[in-house]
Amino acid sequence: MTAAAPLNLFDYEALAQPLMHPAVWDVIVAGAADEITVAENRRAFDRLTIRPRMLVDVSAIDTATRVLGAPVAAPILIAPSGYHAVLCPEGECATAQAAGRAGIVMTAPSGSHRTIEDIAAAAIGPLWLQLYLFPERERSLAMVRRAEAAGCLAIVLTVDAPRFGRKDRSLRSENDFDWPESGNLAGLPPPTLPWFRGAPVTWADVDWLSGVTRLPILLKGILTAEDAALAAAHGVEGIVVSNHGGRQLDGVTASIDALPEVVAAAGDHCEIYLDGGVRRGTDVLKALALGARAVMIGRPVLWGLAVAGPAGVADVLAILANELAFAMALSGRPTIADIDRTVVR
Ligand code: FNR
Repeated sequence: MTAAAPLNLFDYEALAQPLMHPAVWDVIVAGAADEITVAENRRAFDRLTIRPRMLVDVSAIDTATRVLGAPVAAPILIAPSGYHAVLCPEGECATAQAAGRAGIVMTAPSGSHRTIEDIAAAAIGPLWLQLYLFPERERSLAMVRRAEAAGCLAIVLTVDAPRFGRKDRSLRSENDFDWPESGNLAGLPPPTLPWFRGAPVTWADVDWLSGVTRLPILLKGILTAEDAALAAAHGVEGIVVSNHGGRQLDGVTASIDALPEVVAAAGDHCEIYLDGGVRRGTDVLKALALGARAVMIGRPVLWGLAVAGPAGVADVLAILANELAFAMALSGRPTIADIDRTVVR
């Protein structure tokens, strides 16, 4: 270990920045507009304090749990994001391998550089597919069929991007870089509409999607009790409480602050996940305490890829899982089942 060996996810962020082209860095870290929600995602975690229990036998800590019924080594998943191939030649295949070795789920983005078939072949563990709906249903359906054939275990429908967020930090510099094409989208029927600036989804589309696939569906980007209740009424298997890492509408609630109302409205009907600003094992503990089944991490995976390819992703995942185990030990909650609402004040 050198003195510069990363100890935590913030160290990975600091190590990654000088290794990235400035335009790539800006696109990855950017949030919408003034990045208020990006900052708030972190601040809201920091505001929550932990109520530790003492004199509990914590000689054995077990972070294992289940997501949609599948066993995983820790309540941590990889959030869908682009740009893996810019940071590491093997792209999403490298990330999928690291996730599988860590015993956790990777959510592959529909706009991946490598095809979902290649990612599934490289993955040693369970894979979910994130879906943006296309204006043409046959394109969306083709993507779903490919995910099914590739063995994906769930569809994560992103619902917070009817238009793509305006990220002022990267708007000026994003054209300074030659971004690789998405090999995954190339495998779909060609678009019939010349251009689309987002992925508008309505509840009718959710019903359509449930009608064409037997895969469980999760809605990613829900932030209110109203929408959570509708999600439950439409029969989805899961919700990801998310503000897209602060990249869509600036000023929306921190995900961890939105979690309790979503859990209250839909937690008895479907599994609730959370992403946005998860950087510490204590953040995972707090999210689980407030009712999340597991968390997703976005940017830290990209920092790991930039620093050391699949080994970097593996290390990011190991650091977070070890921090969670440490937090469980020091808060007197040796298993995931022991983590309940009483963990946070
Ligand atoms: C994303 N995110 C995202 N979400 C999604 O549903 N589809 C996508 O294609 C992308 N692409 C994407 C690219 C980049 C560079 C980032 C940083 C994020 C959002 C992602 O899934 C997740 O919601 C956030 O990244 C979680 O916040 P943190 O962990 O980055 O703070």
